[in-house]
Amino acid sequence: MQEKNIGIFDSGIGGVTVLREIIKILPNENYIYYSDSKNNPYGDKKAEEIIDRCEEISKFLVEKNCKAIVIACNTASAVASKRLREKYKDILIFAIEPAYKMVYDYAYNKNTLVMATKGTIKSEKFNLLFHKYNNHKTKLLECVGLADIIEEGNAKKIKKYLQENIGQYKDNVENIVLGCTHYPLIKKEIIQVIGNNVNFFDGANRLAIHLKDVLEENELISKKAEKGKVKFIDSSRSEEKEKRFFEFLNK
Ligand code: DGL
Repeated sequence: MQEKNIGIFDSGIGGVTVLREIIKILPNENYIYYSDSKNNPYGDKKAEEIIDRCEEISKFLVEKNCKAIVIACNTASAVASKRLREKYKDILIFAIEPAYKMVYDYAYNKNTLVMATKGTIKSEKFNLLFHKYNNHKTKLLECVGLADIIEEGNAKKIKKYLQENIGQYKDNVENIVLGCTHYPLIKKEIIQVIGNNVNFFDGANRLAIHLKDVLEENELISKKAEKGKVKFIDSSRSEEKEKRFFEFLNK
């Protein structure tokens, strides 16, 4: 029987930060990564538009023989995961969320900055999480346009953006929640602007552990002994994206 895949998608290559964590835990699976760069950013789009894109991508991944789908995008997870689970009842769907509960668990009494897209911060799903675990020392920052310039890979623009938008938190924030899967790619640049005394939180590792547990429960773990393959598909067919994706993946 043909080996099944795990499908994973984001609005671009940011979800590589999630796939990296998953591969550490599930190295023998085959993955199909779908980067929807033709339609990014998702963060500023209307909910219905994001849901349409996610439905289309999920349909594609189901047709590509996937046994599970990972939404490696906080915005799409916040807005579309419920609808996808309703629509694709026969497939396991995993969603990521900003690691705000981790702050509650490990660093509750510290000043916290949550960086995420407008779509995530405005979503009902994130607001439920935020109000449940609110440490009353948290600033929510809608990072409009940041995922876009990370996607573009423009170092100068990233530096300028961070100076203008998070420079004011230098030395007065101790926790940073990276609530968009693109942001772990610029940790170094964030530290350069904000200083070294910060702890970063993101949801990728927890999602990877959960994925493994659920695949095991459902007896869906790959039985093969050798390392799996990663296939990359980009909706704008960008070779440049593919190159950067694999650079980040293999870092
Ligand atoms: N990487 C996505 C996230 O985690 C969003 C980027 C975008 O706005 O497209 O939210």
